[in-house]
Amino acid sequence: MTQKSEQFRPEDYEKYRTLGVKHLIQPNMTRAAAYAPENFTLFVKEIDGCHVIDIKGKTYLDAFASLMYRNVGYGRKEIVDAIYEQLQQLSSCVGTSPNIPQITLAKKLADMTPGDLSVVFYGNNGGDAVETGIKIARLYQRLCGFANRYKVIGRRREYHGTNLGTMALGRPIKGTNPLMCEDFAAYGPLMPGVIHVAHPCCYRCEYGLTYPGCDLKCATQVEAVVLQEEPETVAAFLATPVSAQSLCDVPPPEYWPIIRSICNKYGIVMQMDCVVTGFGRTGKMFAVEHFGIVPDIMSVAKGIISGYMPLSATIMSSKIADAFEPKTTFLHDYTFGGHPAACAAALVNIDIIEREKLVENSDVVGKYLLEKLQALSNHPMVGAVRGIGLFCSVEYVKDKKTKEPFDNAVTGRLRSKLMARGLVSRTRDSSTSFLPPLVFTKSDADEAVDILEKSLTELEKELSM
Ligand SMILES: Cc1ncc(COP(=O)(O)O)c(C=O)c1O
Repeated sequence: MTQKSEQFRPEDYEKYRTLGVKHLIQPNMTRAAAYAPENFTLFVKEIDGCHVIDIKGKTYLDAFASLMYRNVGYGRKEIVDAIYEQLQQLSSCVGTSPNIPQITLAKKLADMTPGDLSVVFYGNNGGDAVETGIKIARLYQRLCGFANRYKVIGRRREYHGTNLGTMALGRPIKGTNPLMCEDFAAYGPLMPGVIHVAHPCCYRCEYGLTYPGCDLKCATQVEAVVLQEEPETVAAFLATPVSAQSLCDVPPPEYWPIIRSICNKYGIVMQMDCVVTGFGRTGKMFAVEHFGIVPDIMSVAKGIISGYMPLSATIMSSKIADAFEPKTTFLHDYTFGGHPAACAAALVNIDIIEREKLVENSDVVGKYLLEKLQALSNHPMVGAVRGIGLFCSVEYVKDKKTKEPFDNAVTGRLRSKLMARGLVSRTRDSSTSFLPPLVFTKSDADEAVDILEKSLTELEKELSM
């Protein structure tokens, strides 16, 4: 049943809260916690690019773009119209036959992605796009005559999705969010053949080293791992170019060229998870462009369609795709992958990103936001501030020397304070992350940082810091 806005009644909050507890599981939370009044906000309507309202009529500034995906913002009638028009013409695929929106979008993605990334496979979610890439890498290796290349190297402090393969490859930050970290074993065995290496996180270097004196051990160490595992067993290296999970860590400039050359040297497929960092998020169209490298496979989702429908894509180089031809089929099929209405919507979404220069806005407003957040560094709780484009995080610590993180109960108190002041962010894992819609303005950044500052000051007082 659709609900007209005039039908939203504040008193219905309690009704939906009770129904939710009984019938609807929320991701990564117990129902008791998800529907506790301090956590449960019932959003009912979008107002403009960055603002939404809840059932009680309260307005929020969404500085997390829902879940890092509303790149063109809320309220884009143009996209809704494109979906409606497409649904009137061809409202689904016909079997596995391609259709015009699918092919047109594939050509557009080939044109806009770097290097020779030029052949596309569609899915519905980011996790689909990453797992599709893993299967492509393994198949490619076998077609090249390496029957035993099945292992995938991933990095700690990463998240790639919740399927059994992507979950095996992700390794969220330990110790802060027990539901996300320590319970992995409950779903095992996860995909075998996964090897984890260090994340290039200078603030918490696994080797206890300092850049540049570290000589990029986090990157060079990958070669040692490959040799130890035996190169003829390694199919792919999978990572995000810059990591939201690692609180917007940006690796030193030498990091990615070193990894690229190790992959080249040992015939390892380089797969980039650009699910979050595509389509302008970091101030370039794709975050890999900051580092001058081109992966062999790139997975995209989120900003490809800004959440107006589900869609993801795995884009591979022609060298990889051509290895399948002429006789090998790719044994992989999502019934709803590349829905024509989603592809039509994505084309309009990308047109808006280009026409309204949202990549440039991400760069300019992102620098402004980062500077403002860095000015909070004198707060006792603030341990580190990092980011690139509209992709910024503040990391909280109990003590700036020991860098001990707060547990989620404390971060939860900060989140409640931010929400009470009308700011949506990701505040968990001893951090606050801002990945707003790319239409975010400098005055939105002022408002977000002002709310964060007030809330931090209040919490620090309560914690006697
Ligand atoms: C880097 C990264 N990869 C993959 C995913 C999985 O995307 P989805 O939730 O659409 O499956 C996410 C989700 O946030 C992500 O942040």
